[in-house]
Amino acid sequence: MNTTPASPLLEARDLSRHYSVSRGLFKPHATVKALNGVSFSLAAGETLAVVGESGCGKSTLARALTLIEKPTAGRLSLHGHDVTSATPGETRTLRKLVQMVFQNPYASLNPRKRVAQMLDEPLLLNTPLSAAERRERVADMLAQVGLRPEHAQRYPHMFSGGQRQRIAIARAMMLSPRLLVADEPTSALDVSIQAQILNLFMDLQERTGITYVFISHNLSVVEHIADRVMVMYLGRVVEFAPKATLFAQPLHPYTRALLSATPSLDPARRAKKIRITGELPSPLNPPSGCAFHKRCPHATAVCTEQVPELRALDANQVACHHAEEIARSPLLPA
Ligand SMILES: Nc1ncnc2c1ncn2[C@@H]1O[C@H](COP(=O)(O)OP(=O)(O)OP(=O)(O)O)[C@@H](O)[C@H]1O
Ligand code: SF4
Ligand SMILES: [Mg+2]
Repeated sequence: MNTTPASPLLEARDLSRHYSVSRGLFKPHATVKALNGVSFSLAAGETLAVVGESGCGKSTLARALTLIEKPTAGRLSLHGHDVTSATPGETRTLRKLVQMVFQNPYASLNPRKRVAQMLDEPLLLNTPLSAAERRERVADMLAQVGLRPEHAQRYPHMFSGGQRQRIAIARAMMLSPRLLVADEPTSALDVSIQAQILNLFMDLQERTGITYVFISHNLSVVEHIADRVMVMYLGRVVEFAPKATLFAQPLHPYTRALLSATPSLDPARRAKKIRITGELPSPLNPPSGCAFHKRCPHATAVCTEQVPELRALDANQVACHHAEEIARSPLLPA
């Protein structure tokens, strides 16, 4: 496999993951378009935050990016290698470049293994290092994630939630991956612990230059950690922008509503809330045209008929027929 040095670390083109689901006896199967034509690229060392309501496809994207699940269509390349056409041998090599940290550090750690064993395993299986060298690496990683040497011989149940997430992060970092996908990594933790874990992610990035895809419901977390933000709605990207631009000048009505619903953001900027009315539509039967049209205060006839493509507008990319008018309107009506 040849690496193209100038290529982005991660490139997704029209990435889709559809699931066929049963609707009951004698009924034809239905298709859930959990991920529906997602394109973006990420440079090494960047942090992309992915936000959107429950069921919009964030974890499906995470599973595709970490090669846990194959996309049903589209192309994904990692570090210049086309993952979607890789042989099983190449896929095994590429898998070592990506790791995942999950939401629940209680479920993601094996309760029967000591911390030292959990951190040693990836080295034992994937490197020619001696036992002494591996011990040294494990001790070094424990220190990097803020745990003490004596923690190595303890079992997961002996730790707090925040410490367990530190162990999960340490395990994910053992093979020096290039990309770490973190799926809601702080949402199961006490608010007081969340900032410490976010700071740990940022320290590790500074030290190693790792790239993050960071999935979060919490826009305050996103504001803290992201370089760029991707907003998803029913399997599609509706807005993609540098963090500062997205927070200062969101263009998509859905992004505007998400931001205005976040209480911890600067109240001076967002005095009045935009409510998202109506239920999130079923992904089994998404609305025609723009999937947001039934909840959108700006919807017109064209929105019910034509799917808006993601397109560049100012520093953002936005999928909305009326983004120009919305850009000229104040963030919130006075
Ligand atoms: N294996 C599967 N089979 C069928 N449908 C699936 C499968 N995995 C996910 N889905 C569906 O795909 C859609 C996207 O799910 P996904 O878990 O990616 O959402 P999410 O954005 O991570 O949500 P949450 O915020 O609740 O974690 C949902 O409608 C979900 O029901
Ligand atoms: S395309 Fe239409 S319905 Fe969709 S977000 Fe834009 S204005 Fe609203
Ligand atoms: Mg999820």
